[in-house]
Amino acid sequence: MSTIARTGATGLDGMLPELVQWSSSYGHDLSFAREDLLGSAAHVTMLARTGLIPVADAQELRDQLVALFHDAEASRLALPVGEEDIHMAVEAELGRRLGAVAGRLHTARSRNDQVALDLTLHVRDQAARRLEELADLARRLIAMARPLVALPIPAFTHRQRAQPISAAFLVASWASALLRAGETLAFVLDRTRLCPLGSGACSGTSLPTDRHLVASILAFDGPTRNALDTTGDRDFALDWAWAGARVLLALGKLSSDLVDYASAEYALVTLDPAVSTGSSMMPQKKNPDIFELLRGKTATGIANVVHLLTLVKGLPSGYNRDQQEDRVPVLSTGPTLAACMRAVDLCLDHVHFRGDRGEAALADGFTQSTDLAEALVRKGVPFREAYKASGELVRRATSQGVHLSALSLDDVRDVHPELDADCMNVLDPRRAILAKESYGGTGPKAVLRSLDELQLLAGRLHDRAQLVPRLDALLAHLAHVPLEMR
Ligand code: ARG
Repeated sequence: MSTIARTGATGLDGMLPELVQWSSSYGHDLSFAREDLLGSAAHVTMLARTGLIPVADAQELRDQLVALFHDAEASRLALPVGEEDIHMAVEAELGRRLGAVAGRLHTARSRNDQVALDLTLHVRDQAARRLEELADLARRLIAMARPLVALPIPAFTHRQRAQPISAAFLVASWASALLRAGETLAFVLDRTRLCPLGSGACSGTSLPTDRHLVASILAFDGPTRNALDTTGDRDFALDWAWAGARVLLALGKLSSDLVDYASAEYALVTLDPAVSTGSSMMPQKKNPDIFELLRGKTATGIANVVHLLTLVKGLPSGYNRDQQEDRVPVLSTGPTLAACMRAVDLCLDHVHFRGDRGEAALADGFTQSTDLAEALVRKGVPFREAYKASGELVRRATSQGVHLSALSLDDVRDVHPELDADCMNVLDPRRAILAKESYGGTGPKAVLRSLDELQLLAGRLHDRAQLVPRLDALLAHLAHVPLEMR
């Protein structure tokens, strides 16, 4: 027979033990035990300050909650097993330690607002930590890009060689996408600024609580505005899952590029053995498994978004137990992001661009045919006419089986009278890259300017993340908030 729900505090002990066990969220809830303990410590502080419970009782309760928090931090939290969720388990443990005093803890709150608080604190804390790591990773990419401004590689569109770019430009594009995903994490921080606690089950409380005090102790801007909305709301969880998916998608694109570029067919990068795997059957293989796994992790991120969207779709107002099924997507997002960003961070030193292969891929000049057309435009030729002339040169070179630069000057003039040796110089891929100094282009000055701007953005996001007080800092501060009535 199961030992679940021993407290019987919910007033019902008639449920089939197997169903109580099946419906328990306790195992998952342990991931936000610290958030739950911190929230309860803030709550008893408020209960004492408003005179709702005696100061001496609040002191005892808060001391125990603080001790349990430290146990949780040290991974030695021991709560009674067999409770329906973390909230009941904490109350049961306090009951074991303090007796009847523990019965005062749940004054003027419900598990519905309690779990909303726990999840909000969790998401805020995790989003801030991940944003800090993301900004650091972006800064690493920026540093990696700077020395590569003169290393030519082809850019691909439709998986076809398209135009010459610098390797710096590619790496900067990864940093740019990553920081854009970081902006969605910053948005999550904006969406977790209000404190759900004190909403009660769905309509508030008749007791004279002070929700603003709880909110300020927990570093929120204020309390949420509608108890019914608050207890049924998981929009912040959706925003979190979405931001997580966006980060994973950004890492997935970087990974997909590297999987291609490391192949023998592209050979635009080499991966050190430190980040490659072998095949159990083919001795010659050096596989990019780590980047394939990173690309594969996007499935988890996307699944989390779909999971939560599907979960909240069709729910009526107010708390519904379906909401408890938010645990896996909400709680898996932080660790998944941390692990994936760490993996990329570990790999970056072991990725080497091959300028020789980049130049070889651009040597036939065809990827510079747009540059050739632009050289004619500089001479006053309308773009469409220049485009046709450049296209004709490509056709002639292809039919003669030679590089564009190997066409004779006579051939070239025959195609368009304005074409001369000067125009043909742009076929040099290095020159083609040097010339593209439009804002956001691949020219070295443009790339360095963009890297400076990305660096500023990374700094701003890092600062934003650091403004969020960490759970342990909040608890340390809480222990000194007076309990005496104001
Ligand atoms: N374990 C529940 C959850 O995580 C806590 C809230 C339970 N509320 C209720 N009315 N049964 O959602």
